[in-house]
Amino acid sequence: MIFAANWKLNKTQKQAQEFFSVFLQSNLLTESLKNKNELIFFPQALLSEQISNIFNQFLKKNTSLKKEYLSWGLQNIFYNNQGAFTGENSALTMKEMGGSFSLIGHSERRTLFNETNKDASKKIKAAQDLNLVPILCFGESLELRQSGEYKKFILNQLSQSLDCTDTSKRIILAYEPIWAIGTGKQASDQDITEIGSLIKEQYPKLELLYGGSVKPSNVKSIVSQKNIDGVLVGGASLDHNMFLELISV
Ligand code: PGA
Repeated sequence: MIFAANWKLNKTQKQAQEFFSVFLQSNLLTESLKNKNELIFFPQALLSEQISNIFNQFLKKNTSLKKEYLSWGLQNIFYNNQGAFTGENSALTMKEMGGSFSLIGHSERRTLFNETNKDASKKIKAAQDLNLVPILCFGESLELRQSGEYKKFILNQLSQSLDCTDTSKRIILAYEPIWAIGTGKQASDQDITEIGSLIKEQYPKLELLYGGSVKPSNVKSIVSQKNIDGVLVGGASLDHNMFLELISV
């Protein structure tokens, strides 16, 4: 199972240090990694070096744990690695620092920063060119869900975002219905199964995560859904006790 933690614009360096000083000491973490769960953290970009160092030190001390099960990435990358693009994040620099994933097209990027499916496809390509793993976020608004047009919308969002990308390389999809993000209202098991089958029919080789108000109390039923390979967690990943409980499912 994949457990991805999207910290969004939360945690200072001091708070990140406090989180990992408890989180990495826990037997629940060691057990989870031994069970071959894949943990991926998405801190704000400014914490990259700190987190890279913390993970390297931890893995050096715990040689029996596989490096690929504890990793980190950025919440957003730009589709060019360098040049006159003030304020953007370079995937190349992230790679140099030891990051190996990137979230792409998160709904907050789409709604607050006007990112389009075209942008997502360029970013996926940029990540793949560097052998980084993109996690493409997609999902419908409440209006679309209520109008009944959500399946068509989702398939269109995916086909446009995956245009020009190499689906033979690893790409992870994350279904995050906008109405479930940060609202405490997760999609029902039935909603998740429906989207899970729709996606796996179309993209059988791609892994699929669910995100949107995932918490310790609902994670078990979500990850036991057919076609779900893990979860993308926002709020509940900020608290070390909650996230430890969640990854121990
Ligand atoms: P949430 O956020 O778990 O706080 O709903 C999920 C996300 O935005 O990735």
